[in-house]
Amino acid sequence: ERVDNPYVGADVYVNPIWSANAAAEPGGEAIADQPTGVWMDRIGAIEGNDSPTTGNMGLRDHLDEAVDQAAGQPLVFQLVIYNLPGRDCAALASNGELGPEELDRYQTEYIDPIADILADYADTSLRVVTTIEIDSLPNLVTNVGDRATATPECDQMLANGNYVQGVGYALAELGAIDNVYNYVDAGHHGWIGWEDNFTASAALFYEAANANGATPDDVHGFIANTANYSALVEENFSITDQVDGTSVRESSWVDWNNFTDELSFAQALRQELVSQGFDAGIGMLIDTSRNGWGGPDRPTGPGPRTDVDAYVDGGRYDQRINPGNWCNQSGAGLGERPTAAPEPGIDAYVWMKPPGESDGSSEEIPNDEGKGFDRMCDPTYEGNPRNGESMSGALPNAPVSGHWFSAQFQELLANAHPPIQ
Ligand code: BGC
Repeated sequence: ERVDNPYVGADVYVNPIWSANAAAEPGGEAIADQPTGVWMDRIGAIEGNDSPTTGNMGLRDHLDEAVDQAAGQPLVFQLVIYNLPGRDCAALASNGELGPEELDRYQTEYIDPIADILADYADTSLRVVTTIEIDSLPNLVTNVGDRATATPECDQMLANGNYVQGVGYALAELGAIDNVYNYVDAGHHGWIGWEDNFTASAALFYEAANANGATPDDVHGFIANTANYSALVEENFSITDQVDGTSVRESSWVDWNNFTDELSFAQALRQELVSQGFDAGIGMLIDTSRNGWGGPDRPTGPGPRTDVDAYVDGGRYDQRINPGNWCNQSGAGLGERPTAAPEPGIDAYVWMKPPGESDGSSEEIPNDEGKGFDRMCDPTYEGNPRNGESMSGALPNAPVSGHWFSAQFQELLANAHPPIQ
């Protein structure tokens, strides 16, 4: 029988591969025992193919190790399901191995084998928390049709239905296993926090939860900010503040968003999802792996009330050039350490994206993982409609997505907030 919040009264699995990478960095020992997500980012990762991203452990190896770590006590195992057909339709850095029409392979060569393996661990003390398909469904809301942000690839994934069908299949197959807790990816406030995409995204999540054999009962909750950089709480301004009668919503940073940070977004999205038909008991996760924004440049109080932009820009922790920037952000730091039940409606703060693993290469690097070169990872790029035509803010010299990026890890450590003791 499932518990309400799988993180309560449980430890969380420490991935030995990430842990060793972290421990090998100067200062990295301080966080090497933190739990991070285990990403099944290709079919080969299930068996363990000694790849640069997943190392030499397959899913079964991780689960055996998790059973050891659990020693009979409850232990959360965080598993990221990330291999949809036509993956990452609005970007190139994490394009995957399956073409847009390969739903069948997704189901039979990816989800089915994962479900078969997980079923063998259904009677252990593990609580398997899945994160279902990062950056998929929100793309079908914001990056399609006649919007300036549309891409032909996202139009195709909307038209062929394979994101919705794939997510539905994953929810149904994995949700049939007693100790699996499915959390669907829900983007972040800087993506679907606006009137014209917030409600529509929740509606699409509900559609996917009723597709291809799934029911809303297969959904235990949602995860916000996965692998993103949006601040947890912006303490120096709030959405209802005004400067001389002008709302902070009118500042260029907030740009009419209804939210300023992830905690307020995640709590409001939870309410919206419940009002659209999800169970009142659903819980939210927030990925705080890289949204700390500490270090010497962190504002210590509100900005000046000279005008609304000065007020917001002077006070905000999130130092990105634009909230649409997502690749290897310069100035970022580790966020809150993983924590169970930190706030109402929030099941946990988690580190789903393993800190130190790249978001994408800063220049074209040939690889056999299907990964493309996205100029959002190039520090000299001047942007596109999805980041307000801004500079990318990416660190230079980054390797292909998922590969270890020592310089980024060092910066995340240095700019951690709360700081590393
Ligand atoms: C990459 C994956 C990797 C994951 C975690 C993604 O951006 O595409 O290959 O497993 O990040 O680092």
